[in-house]
Amino acid sequence: MLAPPIWIYNFVASTIDCQRALKKAFIPEPEKDSFDRAFSYMVKKSSMHYFSYKHGELYAEGIPLAELAAKFGTPLYVYSAKTLRRHFTAYEKAFGAVPHIICFAMKANSNSGVLSALAHEGSGADIVSGGELFRALKAGIPAGKIVYAGVGKTEDEIKLALKNRILMFNVESADELEEIDRVAGLMRVKAPVALRVNPDVDPRTHPYISTGMKKYKFGIPLKEALPAYEAAARMKNINVVGIQKHIGSQLTELEPFKDSLNRLLALLDLLEGRGMKLKYLDIGGGLGIRYTEDENPPAPAELAKVVLPLIKGRDVTLIVEPGRSIVGNAGVLVTKCLYRKSSGVKDFVIVDAGMNDLVRPSLYGAHHDILPVRKAKRPLEKVDVVGPVCESGDFLARDRQLPATARGELLAVMSAGAYGFTMGSNYNSRPRPAEVLVDGDECRLVRKRETYRDLTRGEM
Ligand code: LLP
Repeated sequence: MLAPPIWIYNFVASTIDCQRALKKAFIPEPEKDSFDRAFSYMVKKSSMHYFSYKHGELYAEGIPLAELAAKFGTPLYVYSAKTLRRHFTAYEKAFGAVPHIICFAMKANSNSGVLSALAHEGSGADIVSGGELFRALKAGIPAGKIVYAGVGKTEDEIKLALKNRILMFNVESADELEEIDRVAGLMRVKAPVALRVNPDVDPRTHPYISTGMKKYKFGIPLKEALPAYEAAARMKNINVVGIQKHIGSQLTELEPFKDSLNRLLALLDLLEGRGMKLKYLDIGGGLGIRYTEDENPPAPAELAKVVLPLIKGRDVTLIVEPGRSIVGNAGVLVTKCLYRKSSGVKDFVIVDAGMNDLVRPSLYGAHHDILPVRKAKRPLEKVDVVGPVCESGDFLARDRQLPATARGELLAVMSAGAYGFTMGSNYNSRPRPAEVLVDGDECRLVRKRETYRDLTRGEM
């Protein structure tokens, strides 16, 4: 089919209802896709987050992103507090019928402002380092709601966690168990532990973010779990309190979750049969989010529908460790188009955010929708959106249909709230961006943009 002239796109853009009616008939496949994306944020007023267009301007809650960019510069991470609360509350409601703790997986976003907002809602934390413990406590998350996973906890980290009396260690190996027993002995305390079990279930997600299979480094293999529990029960300085699993991230199906939970529960029954009573059942995190409008990952309520019947009648406190599904769609990265160029085979939009600011596209080939901050009538074009970093792998999008972007214009990289800033770096000696938290009509700078001085701090 022939592509229609450009005025049709513009006309379509100005009348949303007509757009719905006409798109099937007139817009060829790639454009249709891109139009859908660009408009669905506006049309549906997406139920997932509070970034939306008003009078052609993309807003974070009550504030135009352009205003934030003018005030704080770009690249800029912008978070929506209302979205954070909404997603946290969705978990609270979903599991409200049973004793539970929602432990936000702060590797997804460890900004103090974000953490304080979640702490205020009653969140606990799933941590993986001493640094995360430090941040969690500083943000007001009670130690009694902190669980600590990670395959390589050091003596100092174990000491810090014991000193602060965290809820429990999610222990990932027999060696680590021995070490925690030794360190707790030195400190004359009993260490509360859960064993992280590797259930060997394929979560059907990207291999880099899949964890619960034998070929990955996480957890204690299911077969070795029983002897490990027996060993733990014999240790003088260990208090066995729980069991944990986490099979992977960006899960879009619940079947693997259910399968792994069933395996864990079978083990729990076995342990109880041997007189070992565990208080905490930690089912990990991993629910996916919608990176594009055609994805439809399960909501917390759907997860609860699978989990709650399976644990009915069990006298346990449930722990859930969501990260991405709380903060992912609550953040965007605002970036400015610096230059444009064409290589003859490709058109490039060169922006001021690079792979050091958001590495997910480069590292996982991840898709993030990119939207113009100011919507205007203009043709679509196929471009690579690339950053200033000296790597060919430095891109935010490849072969993407976008409304034509001019120099100086702002773009919003959507769904960047999880594993965005936290995975950022100073590569190419680029100061890391500022972060802003919007709540209604108010905004708060929750992290200053780094300066050149920050780059050399600590060097001698
Ligand atoms: N609990 C444990 C033990 C985990 O390892 C993780 C994530 C979570 C909870 C939280 O998972 P979530 O709910 O966020 O899916 N950098 C990757 C994701 C790595 C996830 C690592 N573990 C990305 O950008 O996709």
